[in-house]
Amino acid sequence: MPSPAQTDAVPPGPVRYAREGRIGVITVDHPPVNAIGHGVRSGLVTALETGLADGGADALLLVCAGRTFLAGADIREFGKPFPPPTLPDVVACFDAATKPVIAAIHGTALGGGLEVALACHVRVALRSAKLGLPEVKLGLLPGAGGTQRLPRLIGPAKALDLMLAGDPVGAEEALALGLVDAVEDDASPLEAGLRAAGRLLDGGRVPQPVSARIDRIAGSDPALFAARRADLAKRQPHLFSPHRIVDAVEAAATLAFADGTARERDLFLACLESPQRAGLIHAFFAERQVAKVPGLPPGTPTRDIRRVGVVGAGTMGSGIAMSFANSGIPAVLVDSTQEGLDRGLAAIRRNYESSVRKGRLSATQMEERMASIHPTLSYADLADADLVVEAAFESMEIKQTVFRRLDGICKPGAILATNTSTLDVDAIAAATGRPQDVLGMHFFSPANVMRLLEVVRGAKTSDSVLATAMALARRIGKVGVAVGVCDGFVGNRILHQRGLEAMALVEEGASPEQVDRVLTGFGFPLGHFSMTDLAGIDVGWRIREERRKAGDPEAQATDWLDILAERGRHGQKTLAGVYRYEPGSRSPIADPAVAAVIEEDRRRRGIMPRPVSNEEIRDRCLYVMVNEAAKILEEGIAARAVDIDAIWLHGYGFPSWRGGLLFWADREGLGRIAAAVQRYHRDIGGPRWSPSALLLQCVAEKRPIAC
Ligand code: 3HC
Repeated sequence: MPSPAQTDAVPPGPVRYAREGRIGVITVDHPPVNAIGHGVRSGLVTALETGLADGGADALLLVCAGRTFLAGADIREFGKPFPPPTLPDVVACFDAATKPVIAAIHGTALGGGLEVALACHVRVALRSAKLGLPEVKLGLLPGAGGTQRLPRLIGPAKALDLMLAGDPVGAEEALALGLVDAVEDDASPLEAGLRAAGRLLDGGRVPQPVSARIDRIAGSDPALFAARRADLAKRQPHLFSPHRIVDAVEAAATLAFADGTARERDLFLACLESPQRAGLIHAFFAERQVAKVPGLPPGTPTRDIRRVGVVGAGTMGSGIAMSFANSGIPAVLVDSTQEGLDRGLAAIRRNYESSVRKGRLSATQMEERMASIHPTLSYADLADADLVVEAAFESMEIKQTVFRRLDGICKPGAILATNTSTLDVDAIAAATGRPQDVLGMHFFSPANVMRLLEVVRGAKTSDSVLATAMALARRIGKVGVAVGVCDGFVGNRILHQRGLEAMALVEEGASPEQVDRVLTGFGFPLGHFSMTDLAGIDVGWRIREERRKAGDPEAQATDWLDILAERGRHGQKTLAGVYRYEPGSRSPIADPAVAAVIEEDRRRRGIMPRPVSNEEIRDRCLYVMVNEAAKILEEGIAARAVDIDAIWLHGYGFPSWRGGLLFWADREGLGRIAAAVQRYHRDIGGPRWSPSALLLQCVAEKRPIAC
């Protein structure tokens, strides 16, 4: 079908108007995602007015060019004044249109984009389209009538489900919900839209504007809102915008449309002002910014990765193989023993079976994924892998032996990656004759679930190898962050410092439960000691043993955690660690036996316990992290503050509504943090409290550390 000819009436811009027979076509063309910034907003109003005034147009069609329908308001404009027309103004114009308006949706209709479509008379979607109101993920609520129109279209309960989760639904589900009127298979939204418009003009009934409908909201049960509030108070006590969404939908069910819309506006503006909105939007852009590695020019050639290898079928190796299988990349999984291989494969199968039981995966998909993992005892099967990830035991000797072997077997140009979390990637690379092809790919446990991937660039890693690993991270749904070589890289290095501080606080008089309560109160999903139990106390104990042997001044003394490890209290897996656990439960229960071990340890060291305030715990645990993060920046191990923010957001559950560790630090006040670091350096001492020069410099220059 030819594209419609452009009229002279509308000046060139992101929105154009043209006529196709009896249909006036409004096309938004604003790459990359047709975000509704000021230009699009005024273009939409002008094009709509042009179409309404066009005597030859009996109906109007809204379509988008490029890869997607309108992906929502332009997020970059939030926090700045909105010049008119605002998005609610645009939506009101569509709602009041005197000719039928059809929206033809492809790609993703999200947020304000879906709200514009909701103000059209008819919505038709391509089968591949996705529709949603993800504002909650940005600390907002749908602020252009979405909270008022969606309940009128699909009922308040379903509308709340969609808005509180923020996840999009596919076109089929949207049709079943009543969110769209038709689903079309056409490749082109223009064709689908013109056909729908034609049907409407050939005698179809023009539906009422959604704003005028009341059948789905009449007689809404007030208990629905009370139940949602109670659920939110339990599950998301920290978050601001979900509660406002419930308020807005309740207004839709109880007030006239105009009054409900006014209430929505007030609630939207309150969300817009909230620090959580700023934090969540920082987190949104951080995830995208880390993909652009400074010094790695866009367009750096990447290598083709069609088949990968994974060495080691333990917990990490199996999870890594699953990450590839889940993205359609076949993986050869090598282990040194049949028993190890069988155990790994059984774990993978159990994991997939659980997904099938939960309805997240079909039995066929499970079998396809299992079939794409090829278990073997022979390294020779790695000969045609394009990339191999080594996930063997954390020992330099073992890793160097594995890499020597891989170097001899893998084809030229194959990338060799180590999943080490603490060892020197350069020393591992030196065991091969191709250090330019070696780097670290540090997955986080469970590797098939956690989104973070630290991509560790060695001294000799080539640009194309780094670019390939970053692209691969995205392909397998991870957030890849490029980092340099040092002990613990970025994430674990900061975690280590927090761990030392948490231990010091307990020695001085806090209980592990108190420390954990403060951290979960801050917004972490797990406290430090619950996390230790989850990871396994024996794992940390082994690392501390290594550090002690290496003469680390902060790891010399045996501490109460070592005593627990030596007594077989290895954490959740043994139902006893810092806490105890009932069989089959992950809920930590404070254990007097552990309190006694701690007490004994204090006595042995001659420490007189004192009351430690929650504020002191918060400040010491968080400020020590900020100080270490600043040192990491100083040393160039992370190129930007945003890299550190993304690492802690995606690997350690830093609360996303706080934006990220360093974004939060700026808001907390670098001056306050630096003063406290200097005080703790004097009073507590130890390398972890030696103030970062960069931190002090930022304070002296009165500039933020993040942005
Ligand atoms: N505003 C501004 N820029 C946006 C944007 C938006 N709404 N959505 C995406 N972008 C930018 C990204 O930052 C990225 O920029 P970059 O190339 O400079 O890094 C570029 O567009 C491409 O984005 P992705 O890399 O994310 O591309 P994908 O194809 O992977 O994903 C997408 C596309 C699904 C649209 C995804 O970008 C997305 O989820 N965007 C956010 C959608 C959203 O949250 N909309 C609601 C906004 S709030 C709102 O509408 C308020 C209203 O109720 C009043």
